[in-house]
Formats: sequence, C-alpha cells, structure tokens
Amino acid sequence: MSKQIKIGMFGFGCVGQGLYNVLQQSRGIKAEIARIAVKDRSKQRSLPAELFTYEASDILNDASIDVVVELIDDAEAAYGIVTKALRSGKHVVTANKKMLANHLEELVALQQETGASLLYEASVCGGIPIIRTLEEYYDNELLHSVSGIFNGSSNYILTRLEQDGLSYEAALSLAQQKGFAESDPTLDVGGYDACNKLCILAAHAYGVYIDPKDVFCYGIDKLSAEDLAYARQLGTQVKLVATIQKLSDDRFTLLVMPQFIADTDKLNGVNDEYNAVRVEAAFSDVQYFIGKGAGGHPTGSAVLSDLSALTYQYKYSYKKAEQPNRPVYETDIELNVYLRYVQQVDIEGLSFGCGAVFTQGEGSNYVSASISLKNLIALKSELLKRNISIIRTNHQTTNSSYTRVASELVGA
Ligand code: HSE
Repeated sequence: MSKQIKIGMFGFGCVGQGLYNVLQQSRGIKAEIARIAVKDRSKQRSLPAELFTYEASDILNDASIDVVVELIDDAEAAYGIVTKALRSGKHVVTANKKMLANHLEELVALQQETGASLLYEASVCGGIPIIRTLEEYYDNELLHSVSGIFNGSSNYILTRLEQDGLSYEAALSLAQQKGFAESDPTLDVGGYDACNKLCILAAHAYGVYIDPKDVFCYGIDKLSAEDLAYARQLGTQVKLVATIQKLSDDRFTLLVMPQFIADTDKLNGVNDEYNAVRVEAAFSDVQYFIGKGAGGHPTGSAVLSDLSALTYQYKYSYKKAEQPNRPVYETDIELNVYLRYVQQVDIEGLSFGCGAVFTQGEGSNYVSASISLKNLIALKSELLKRNISIIRTNHQTTNSSYTRVASELVGA
C-alpha cells in the first residue's frame, strides 16, 4: 500500500458524502478520493465535475487507484464492481450488506486467491465496530450469543410511532428523508436488512456462511397501534431484534423478529437510528455496543476505519472458518411468541405448544404461546399475507402478564 491511499469511489449518496466530509476532517490518514463513479448525470453535485465519472472502467482500469470504496445501493451492480476490483488486485471497502450476505463465502475465497483485502465494517450497524471485534477480540472466546438492534430505520420508525404517535407512513417517510432507509424500504421494515447483517456477523462469530433466505425474518411492517399499546401496558418496548444464539456446543440458530423488551433490559431505551449489539460470551460475560447505526457520518466513520486498517495491511483472517467442529445452523427450536390476528382462519397451520393462551376481542385476537421456528419459517409468506403480527415474548415476563394485558385490551 502506498503512503497516500488513492481511492476510487462508487456512489455519492448519503454515505459517500459522509465519507468525503469525514476524510476532509481526519488528520491521521493520508487518503485522497481520486475519482467518484455515479449513475445520475442530471444531479447537481457539491464537488468539482472533473472528479465524477459515469464509467466504472475509469476507476477499475486505473492502475494508480489502490482502493475501491463501494457505496452504491444496487447489490447486483455492487457485486460486479467488487469482484472486478478484487480480481484486478485493488483492495475493496464496501458497506453493501445485501451484496455481502448473498456472496460472502465466494468473496472471501476470491480475496484469498487475489491477495487483495476486502473490508466491510460499515456494512453492519453503522459506526459500531462489531465485525473486527468479533473477528479479533472474540477470536478464541466461547460466544453464547450476539444479538440486538441492527436496523436504524426500523428503530427510528418504532420510536416515532411510540413517542410522537406518528402514523407508520409518516415515520417511514421521515426515515427516508434523513437518509437512513434503503431505496427499497421493504429491506428495512421487512427485517431483510437486519437479516443480511446477521448473516455477516454469523461468519465472524462462528465461521459459518448462512444464506439469508434460510433465516426466519419478520419485520415491523405488520405491527399496529394495538401491538404498541400492548407493549406499553406490559411495561415494555417493541424492538426489531436480530439474534445469533448458540443452542449447544455444536448447534446455533439465527432469527430476526420484533421482540418485547422489558424496561430492565439495556436494549430498552435504545431509540431513534441507534443500534445496539449485545455479545454474551463464557468469560467476558455480557457486553453491549451502542451507537448510531445509520447516517452518513457514522457509516463514513466505519469506512474511514477500514481505510486506515488498509494502511497497515489489515485483512480479516476468517480463522473461525478453518476451525474443526464449527456449530451447525439449526431451526428445530421452540420460541415463545405473541400473535395478533383477526380471524381464526388466519392462524390455520400454526401448531402451538401446550399452554397456549387465546384471548378474543372484537377486532383483534391474541395468542401467547410457544411455536417452533421451523413452523414459522414454513408459514412465513402465509403469515405476511394474513397480516399477522408476531412478537417474540421476553422470558423475563411471565405468561400471566401477557394474558392479563390481552384481557385488558379486549375488555374481557
Ligand atoms: N437502512 C439501513 C438502516 C442503513 O436503517 O439500518 C444502515 O445499514
């Protein structure tokens, strides 16, 4: 790596502009943005026109550029750029979680083959340094779980609904205006973005590559004012929680879904676009990492950190992927959940464990029960179609509390 890093950047949206500002103000790193490839020829730009190009090849074929920083939101186009850059020996820093989650194993093999480095701290939880923490600090620790709030937009929307009584549409529109949301906000509110981040973390926690399509992921888009009222009466907040959970020495599970968070839990009170990661390990016990999960500057800061790491030839080593006896992904487990549905037919096909409690109201019906993750995965598309709200219940809150609140809400 030359002393002065010469960067070719793809994309100049919220994160690209954030990185530009961050680099301008950062004194310790000698890095220059030499060229920026963008798509939209009609947009007015805040930087001199000669810095911009509309041709990817102007960066990819420029031998003087050592690092490609990829910050576009089209995952397939990003995959093309990243693979070409790595093949031509350029180091790559990317924030594209969807692209990484869909192609991680192959990209890791490619970077090992080419010797170039692929870094992506900005792809998970914005400015929270969790990837290198799992990779390096928790190198040999026995990780029990990694979980938390991984999507800033969903958290921002839930906060606006809860604190300001905004409608879902108004809250989503604000998240979009602030540059937190993806161009396709279904990725945020449907839980897919958190799921992509979860799969990236699974590779660094346990050395395993999981296809996001195999993970149960249910977002916040089916939640209603009734669910939030229910949470309030329970003394909890609803958060979209992504979870990697070790089940035994040789098995672990992954899931993304809304969860009731008790007021004694540190995730309660993590609001707006903030993210939080809770890491539980055998020896260090529980640690929390809380910070801004979206936005130009926090994400730009994570890119800066990767650029800086490149100056001392840093690469993820993926040591855990080489270890024997890696745990196996498992979905045959029981979860405690709350469901809100309108008609009996809506819960057809779901088999609840014994002890399920049903509370019927005029508009909504509630059930508090255990259900298998496998069953939820199999029925996910049906559940979405039937507009069923599902929230994971907190083991610290007893079943009788859920039943009491449901009865109060339906006036029984
Ligand atoms: N749309 C993402 C979020 C951006 O809201 O968390 C940061 O990854």
